Amino acid sequence: MNLSLGITAAVLLSRCSRVSSRSAVSNADANTTQLYRSEDGLLSLDLEASAQQLRLGNRTANVLTYNSQMPGPQLEARPGDTVQIRFTNRLKQPTNLHFHGLHIPPTGTGDNVFLEISPGESHTYEFQIPEDHPAGTFWYHPHYHGLVAEQLFAGLAGLFIVRGDLDDIPEVKAAQEAALVLKDLALDRRGNIPNPGHMAQMTGRIGDLLLANGQLNPEIKVAQGELLRLRLLNASPSRFFQLSLEEHPLFLIATDGGAISAPIELDNLVLAPGERAEVLIRATQTSGQYRLFNTPFNPVQGMMGGGMMGGGGMMGGPSRQRRTETVATLAYSGTTTETPIPTALLPIAPLPEPQMVRQFTLNHGMGRGMVFLINGQVFDHNRVDTQVSLGTVEDWEIINTGTMAHPFHVHVNKFQVISRNGQTEPYAAWKDVVSVNPGERVRIRMAFRDYTGKTVYHCHVLDHEDRGMMGLLDIQSA
Ligand code: C2O
Ligand code: CU
Ligand code: CU
Repeated sequence: MNLSLGITAAVLLSRCSRVSSRSAVSNADANTTQLYRSEDGLLSLDLEASAQQLRLGNRTANVLTYNSQMPGPQLEARPGDTVQIRFTNRLKQPTNLHFHGLHIPPTGTGDNVFLEISPGESHTYEFQIPEDHPAGTFWYHPHYHGLVAEQLFAGLAGLFIVRGDLDDIPEVKAAQEAALVLKDLALDRRGNIPNPGHMAQMTGRIGDLLLANGQLNPEIKVAQGELLRLRLLNASPSRFFQLSLEEHPLFLIATDGGAISAPIELDNLVLAPGERAEVLIRATQTSGQYRLFNTPFNPVQGMMGGGMMGGGGMMGGPSRQRRTETVATLAYSGTTTETPIPTALLPIAPLPEPQMVRQFTLNHGMGRGMVFLINGQVFDHNRVDTQVSLGTVEDWEIINTGTMAHPFHVHVNKFQVISRNGQTEPYAAWKDVVSVNPGERVRIRMAFRDYTGKTVYHCHVLDHEDRGMMGLLDIQSA
């Protein structure tokens, strides 16, 4: 089964226009992403986490991989499909898998982040994607508390795409498609990942190398006139991205949890760690090359660069992070007939008024080194912090009384941001990560409709999560 899917993916890569866009992102040292698509309602594969040595430009990188790749294979399924992942841990430390953004059970063989898969052990994840699951850009990564930042930074992450409603909108369907997994990395002269310095305790580890699909500045080919649909994931443990494309506005069509109701034109797009976005780009400029820039984004003045690791070291690091850098290049090649931007996408129904409003205060303090707190406490897997009842709607107020931005993330159920410091959000969107700035009070609304069981919410600066900024959520049947 695994073998046949692998071959199918290879055949699809060369034959199907939709999939061939994967190969549009390529360059000399391309580490081409393997693609697994569901067939006849089943996505079945073997997935192995292991240490590998990869080429990165002209250097060697000793990283952690899924199926020897960084990022890991791209998985694709449709609503209603069954997913079976036979996972094996070939690392020297425990790990597990989390399916970030998927609305699936948090228990058993589903999105169970409490599992500990020891070195050499295997576990089969098996779940069904609900029939009414929205299409979107989701992802998978390790979630073993205490090691999440380290394992993600070392390379363990991959896309999990659900194809459905949004993909059927004619203009979106006609678009050329590419995905960029954005992640920073740090390497010492021997190609090893250095230990995070002292400041990384505060800001989280931040690397000086900006990778897109495991490459430095890969090229995305597009025909003049074409509409490009770009899926973007910030798979960095701590680094924010602020993206802009030379001479091309970005038309936002989807956020973490799927489509928004109509495209929104943006000059730049900020992605906090864990966040995703899909944008359309009209390739209607003069034929040429256009750089996709990352401009340093500083949610808090004076804090950036503190946790910088790698080539720049403590001296060159901070200044290097203040520089605008190119993460990928859009290269025109050929011409085609123009596809317009769609005027409408998919409606977003507002959630009913909440039965309950809760508060979550985010801050940090000193414990054994720096600790990060929700309502004054560090995470304890034996303590239930928040108990909710199935069939209810809740508002959560996330209050940041600290000095750093904290991207707040909830597992299993997506939410809508209602307001920031009392100001209504400009447009409705489904989210599962929302960045909360120092001094901000962000109100989110969530419905608990189907799955019961224990899961978590946490800061997606994963060094903060590993140092305690996580809470346990127990969803109980009414
Ligand atoms: Cu992407 Cu709990 O994480
Ligand atoms: Cu998650
Ligand atoms: Cu945080």
